[in-house]
Amino acid sequence: VPSKAPRHFLTLNDINRAELQQIITRAIELKAMLRQGTAPEPFNNKVLAMIFEKNSTRTRVSFESGMAKLGGHAIFLSTKDSQLGRGEPIEDAARCIASMVDMVMIRTYAHSTVQRFAEYSRVPVINGLTDEYHPCQLLADIQTYVEQRGSLAGKTVAWVGDGNNMCNSYIQAAELCDFELRIATPKGFEPEDEFVTPYKDRVSLSNDPRAAVAGADLVVTDTWASMGQEDEKKQREKIFSGYQVNKDLMSLANSDALFMHCLPAYRGKEVSADILDAPDAVVWEEAENRMHAQNALMEFLFNQ
Ligand code: CP
Ligand code: NVA
Repeated sequence: VPSKAPRHFLTLNDINRAELQQIITRAIELKAMLRQGTAPEPFNNKVLAMIFEKNSTRTRVSFESGMAKLGGHAIFLSTKDSQLGRGEPIEDAARCIASMVDMVMIRTYAHSTVQRFAEYSRVPVINGLTDEYHPCQLLADIQTYVEQRGSLAGKTVAWVGDGNNMCNSYIQAAELCDFELRIATPKGFEPEDEFVTPYKDRVSLSNDPRAAVAGADLVVTDTWASMGQEDEKKQREKIFSGYQVNKDLMSLANSDALFMHCLPAYRGKEVSADILDAPDAVVWEEAENRMHAQNALMEFLFNQ
């Protein structure tokens, strides 16, 4: 039984600037070693439980494959086929699951569910996306930018579209990585004040995607209807129609600007097909980096 409180990763604010840098540097190293077939096995005898209340492709595959490649094992649990879907309290599940594994990754609707799980878990808990945050995706995005262009410090990032979980995590990233974040959303779809107010000096809100993207070094968007908002899809498509990232919008950004998207993407909606399918698109590298960044994160958490 661990003697001290476990170190969780529920939002980017759970790590400091130096730790982020260490994780990104290690992610790049582990990626190179995996590609050369010289990766270590730091997860030998370690088991990760992965709990999903929502669907996933990348998060599941990246965590499960990452654990396996570095010597560990992962268990997939969905609320559909575990007792969590039949009303077992999250606190009870946390105590039991954490007693048998070494780390937990959990994806939920309410962010408070992840917080409650973490409170009762004696092993580190990683947020694999909630309605409020997606910190693991930011690790991958930061790694990708660093690999392609170097440090994000002093750069300008444009967030175009919905003020959602990804947007909230970008706000925290702006502080950790020292960049300016310009958020352009339709009226009424801004991130909540509580997420923006502490970062007012580096984050700005508007309803003008062109102004946000002008001179940006990185342009990011996400689906217009997140998981749980399926009923609003049609209505949102109308409201967000002026917020598509396409060649015309990207032409306003810096000439070496990158486009990122956490995926899944909807061509012809939030992003045009030519941007996503461009030969120099980094979104596929960004997706692969989920695995490398999370491998580095898990190693970091195991070493606390
Ligand atoms: N980007 C991301 O989290 O993808 P999945 O929903 O497929 O896990
Ligand atoms: N904002 C999206 C991200 C999916 C990875 C959602 O929450 O569904």
